[in-house]
Amino acid sequence: MTGKELLYSGKAKDLYATENDEVIVAVYKDQATALNGLKKEQVLGKGQLNNQISSLIFEKLNRAGIATHFLEKLSDTEQLNKKVAIIPLEVVLRNYTAGSFSKRFGVAEGLKLVEPIVEFYYKKDELDDPFINDEHVAFLDIASTEELTYIKAETRKINQLLIEWFAAIGLTLIDFKLEFGKDQDGKIILADEFSPDNCRLWDAEGHHMDKDVFRRGLGNMTDVYQIVWEKLQELD
Ligand code: TMP
Repeated sequence: MTGKELLYSGKAKDLYATENDEVIVAVYKDQATALNGLKKEQVLGKGQLNNQISSLIFEKLNRAGIATHFLEKLSDTEQLNKKVAIIPLEVVLRNYTAGSFSKRFGVAEGLKLVEPIVEFYYKKDELDDPFINDEHVAFLDIASTEELTYIKAETRKINQLLIEWFAAIGLTLIDFKLEFGKDQDGKIILADEFSPDNCRLWDAEGHHMDKDVFRRGLGNMTDVYQIVWEKLQELD
């Protein structure tokens, strides 16, 4: 990607304009961050793995009837996406206890929740993405009640599809984070990415097959991302 206007440079991706005002190119980077950017490393091959994994998942979500920003994979590290205005919410769904949930409530990791729990975090780096509820979403004017109801329902629907796909390749979907955006018609669609950077996946022996390998210094993250990518290719 050269010569095009850089619209946004994130921790894991850069977004570029195209000739079409409704379409952008996302370029996945070989950079890993944790602790809101405090821990940062170059990780060779990570951009390619996440672009491949996220393209495969979004393609499957599109086919399953979920409205997403994904149009097509362009190259190893690039994909074409619909341009959206990102809704500043990190939508986290948890099937099992882990991470900040375990810390906040003082419970062990890996306990199955009777019903999946959806949480919201206000996407604002300066504030360290604080934990918020529906009423804070209204106060901050992030989304209307109807929009939030839709976002929650879509997240639960996506969860059911993902649980099944990962179970088929021997992985348990512990939790994940989604981001939604509004397209040029004002319709809310799934945006950002779905990769081991923003979900937790445990194998049958309880090994972490996700970014916790990096966050917790458990080994080489691209080795486990590569395994996830290879397994995902076994799906239809
Ligand atoms: P947490 O347990 O740290 O709150 O994370 C819950 C899920 O959300 C986990 O799969 C990792 C993902 N996540 C992100 O993708 N980005 C973030 O900034 C955070 C805090 C979590």
